[in-house]
Amino acid sequence: MARSARPITNLASGWYVALPSAELRRRPRRVTLFGNSYVGWRGGDGRARVHSAVCPHAGAALHGGKVVDGTLECPFHRWRFDESGACVFVPGRRPPTRATVTALPTRECSGYVWVWYGSGPPRYEPPDRPDLAVRRFPGVRGFRLADPTRATTRRILENTYDPDHLVALHGLTVAGDARIEFADARERSADGGTPDDEPEERCDATLTWPAYRGALGTVSNVFGLNAKEFTLRMRGWASCQEIEYYADGRRLYRMVLAVTPIGEHHSVQHINAAVDPDGAGALGWVRALVHRAEVQVAARQDLPIFDTLLPGDRHGIYVPGDAAVRRFRRFYQRWVEVAERG
Ligand code: FES
Ligand SMILES: [Fe+2]
Repeated sequence: MARSARPITNLASGWYVALPSAELRRRPRRVTLFGNSYVGWRGGDGRARVHSAVCPHAGAALHGGKVVDGTLECPFHRWRFDESGACVFVPGRRPPTRATVTALPTRECSGYVWVWYGSGPPRYEPPDRPDLAVRRFPGVRGFRLADPTRATTRRILENTYDPDHLVALHGLTVAGDARIEFADARERSADGGTPDDEPEERCDATLTWPAYRGALGTVSNVFGLNAKEFTLRMRGWASCQEIEYYADGRRLYRMVLAVTPIGEHHSVQHINAAVDPDGAGALGWVRALVHRAEVQVAARQDLPIFDTLLPGDRHGIYVPGDAAVRRFRRFYQRWVEVAERG
């Protein structure tokens, strides 16, 4: 797909989704990230790679090429590049030593091919949820959403830290305000250590509401989805999140929320989710399907709002319900500084 993309401003250093694993097969794929063109491909060992798409010889697009003997071959003069990005073969002559393409640090887990954005090597690993990488019951228990949006990465991620919109926009039926707890940063740094001048790796939060009737009000009532307490637990990095929802301590669903930043005002919001059976027997599965609908409906409700947000990472008037969003924004901006340190 041809896309014009402008470089992105105010983007945090972190792991971003290049493309879903299932979409990268034997043929190289074009991916647009951070306002630039890249090529995703799998070498002889099947591992995913993401390289800059412009051939250093005469500038042909490498996504038009093919994989030959575990190397990526340019379609124009058939120069070949290995997984590190070095040119290892030129027909009839020695490859010039300067002929290399940029290879982004790449991982594959939780159903996605991820790339690291920012200067220097990755500072941590992306969320690895093997339970979300496999599709045991495709279309029933697990599902994946990929929705284009004009919202910035920060806007997409701060949505999870915004308890008031869950009630106001998504119609979550609760009996009071959310209680928000953040993981103690000092506790985490004790077991690995975060130097003082480095930002925390994550901004983890737990949001708890008294009483719950399910986001789909009437439907949820029919299936007896009431609970005394509704909890959202999040492991939140500056570029992605792992989220779990619980009703009275029973896990209802879990997901990875991630972003493909294509260009300024042009991102894709990715959700890879799995629902848990909620109770025994057929009713447990029916409830699971209701929870699944909740996730899908919620995404459909957020996206039209995202697209109307004023461009950029604006600050508005804060009220007490925005405390967690504010905290996340400060955390996010520290990772933007990491990206911009150059
Ligand atoms: S442009 Fe790629 S080999 Fe010549
Ligand atoms: Fe939302």
